[in-house]
Amino acid sequence: MSNVAMELQDVRKSIGKKEIIKGLTFSIYKGEVFGFIGPNGAGKTTTIRMMVGLMQLSHGDVLIRGKSIKHDFKNAIREVGAIVENPEMYPFMTGWQNLMHYARMIPGISKERIQEVIKLVGLEKAIKEKVGKYSLGMRQRLGIAQALLHKPSVLILDEPTNGLDPAGIREIRQYIRRLAEEENVAVIISSHLLSEIELMCDRIGIIKNGELIATQTVQDSTTSETKNITQVSMQVTPMDRAIEVLKTDHTLDAKSQDEALIFQTEKEKIPDIVRSLVQQDVAIYQVNSTKSSLEDKFFDLIGENTIE
Ligand SMILES: Nc1ncnc2c1ncn2[C@@H]1O[C@H](COP(=O)(O)OP(=O)(O)O)[C@@H](O)[C@H]1O
Ligand SMILES: [Mg+2]
Repeated sequence: MSNVAMELQDVRKSIGKKEIIKGLTFSIYKGEVFGFIGPNGAGKTTTIRMMVGLMQLSHGDVLIRGKSIKHDFKNAIREVGAIVENPEMYPFMTGWQNLMHYARMIPGISKERIQEVIKLVGLEKAIKEKVGKYSLGMRQRLGIAQALLHKPSVLILDEPTNGLDPAGIREIRQYIRRLAEEENVAVIISSHLLSEIELMCDRIGIIKNGELIATQTVQDSTTSETKNITQVSMQVTPMDRAIEVLKTDHTLDAKSQDEALIFQTEKEKIPDIVRSLVQQDVAIYQVNSTKSSLEDKFFDLIGENTIE
């Protein structure tokens, strides 16, 4: 069977005369964590509502493990676990009682499965306590445990880091990674803050004004650390010769921007590059290097410096 967990095919949504989602086409694969990133109002929640059948599509289709949300809703939705609005939990019941209560509504959920999901989200110790005493992060985890009970192929979380403190976000990061690996689910996680979810994602899709403007693989931290790619900005003259030297001697694509020479390279190579520029009579007045993160790219792409 194919590795595709969910596929969006030219998904559009119009409300009144306004087209809010303008043709989204992309796939999400088993075992991957996909970050769905975009500023507030970009259309993340609207898209997710369509993915989970809470809202009708104006055009296109969503296939979940090949099953159409439009034409085979019952089978398609079985493959999905999601937290879109706040999951309903009873504060006067324990975590365990909440899960049992929910499990009774789905056929075929064993006690073993309940224990398994509790372990997956790391709630073993707190599961016998009343949910009213839970922190926001714990409630979030209980919600995810609930969404996982029926072994979905796709788990969708709309802004799960909202309102969490850094410790809570770290916790989420750990068990989201574990979920993708141990349950082999595709996790779709939306956020307006790239920095909060970048580290837990394998891939990022950036949405703005209802359009997907880029998808990008997130380098795992080990490779990006050993490679240490930085963006270098230099003040040099003559500019043309500098660009030429970088191209011929270092096979680097440099550009001139605001009278500075801009390129990306590994930090360790900067001394070599400086040396060859000097040897070829390029005068250097200044060298700056900044780690080029996905965040910079994100800001470049959405063309604004704040996404709050
Ligand atoms: N029911 C609705 N009626 C009209 N406009 C809506 C409705 N729901 C969302 N929108 C608009 O659609 C756009 C996308 O909203 P939303 O999907 O909530 O974005 P996000 O989740 O990325 O913040 C926004 O401009 C919002 O105002
Ligand atoms: Mg939203």
